[in-house]
Amino acid sequence: MGDGVYLLTTNPGLEDIVEIELRERLRSRRDFRADADAISVERKPWGLAGALLASCPSDVLSDGTHGADLEDSLLEMQSIYHVVRHLRTVELPGDDLMAELLAAVEETAVEPVSSDDTFRVSSKRSGTHPFRSVDIEREAGAVVQRQTGMSVDLEGYTVHVRVDLRDRVCTVGLQLTRDGLDQRWEWRYRPRVALRTVVAYGMLRLARLGAAPQCILDPFCGSGTILLEAAKMYPQARIAGSDKVIACVEGARENVRAAGFDSRVSVVHADARDLAETWPAASVDAVITNPPFGVRLGKKTDFEHLYDRFLRGIEHVLRPGGRAVFLGGKRRHFVARVLARMRGLRMKHVRVIETGGVYPAVYVLERITPDPAGRSAVSEEGP
Ligand SMILES: C[S@@+](CC[C@H](N)C(=O)[O-])C[C@H]1O[C@@H](n2cnc3c(N)ncnc32)[C@H](O)[C@@H]1O
Repeated sequence: MGDGVYLLTTNPGLEDIVEIELRERLRSRRDFRADADAISVERKPWGLAGALLASCPSDVLSDGTHGADLEDSLLEMQSIYHVVRHLRTVELPGDDLMAELLAAVEETAVEPVSSDDTFRVSSKRSGTHPFRSVDIEREAGAVVQRQTGMSVDLEGYTVHVRVDLRDRVCTVGLQLTRDGLDQRWEWRYRPRVALRTVVAYGMLRLARLGAAPQCILDPFCGSGTILLEAAKMYPQARIAGSDKVIACVEGARENVRAAGFDSRVSVVHADARDLAETWPAASVDAVITNPPFGVRLGKKTDFEHLYDRFLRGIEHVLRPGGRAVFLGGKRRHFVARVLARMRGLRMKHVRVIETGGVYPAVYVLERITPDPAGRSAVSEEGP
């Protein structure tokens, strides 16, 4: 038996969160615990942002059910979209990229498990090439068909071959996930600006809330993505959301009900600029939220005013030591300027991520007891 090698995908900027979650999940499996550290994890393999390569040595896999434990753990993860069993990566050397790519597919042993297996090939491509992803799918599909005898079934396939090309790096693998692992909620209401579940999970992890926060608030809750992720992650916590748009409040309530969290998650109609009037002082362990940011909000003055009022509200509702994590524009100096006016908040961590082709920053703040002398603008903290 060879090593088990898996390619995992996430949002660029959240790779460290994936590694932490994977190790945690393996350690929580009684039979795997002792071998969890034998897994090696490479972040951004071949320079691929938003990817990780997790390798499990063959001697660990030969131990009883470890292979199944590993795949089960991967498929339960909340910080990733897809799991691909990695077969081969080749840096294509010459000028005829399509011919070299097809040779790489030819040299990779894609094997059907049963004679009933059918397959499809999908391809993600980035960089400049004289062909499109659909051309790779069609031509690589012909190679796999010839090689294995499997027939193509684009909908009902049982084997999903991935042939991805980023510049000259070609990766061949078998995708184990069907829909993305982020498709974990039944959405009754989902506006265009909704946050991806993986990003919501990453923000909750970056808050470092410990095992048992009692109350988490999202005052710009929209469809409630952060509310649902928080409820799943902290089964004992009370979760509150609010939004100033009534359609969002009603939609988020429906989503909460569909997820079965209505006994612990409440959603109210409120303006996030009035947090201090809506919630008692020091009543919340964490504010995790995704306010509107960037061009959609119009003039800079509106933006600054909204953030000023919102951060003052956070200062009021957070208990000392409590955390706020929000996704905002990456103009750090702007957030730093607003923050400089708040004596009770300190920046703990900031990082830029990529989501849907935009590059917002995740800001992590902490509620402190005001101490102007000892206060620093940013005290760097990892996840
Ligand atoms: C980027 S969206 C949040 C999306 C949400 N995370 C989701 O997954 O659906 C921002 C939300 O803030 C709400 N909003 C804008 N200004 C607000 C304010 N002053 N108070 C409360 N909510 C506000 C909008 O109605 C919108 O639902």
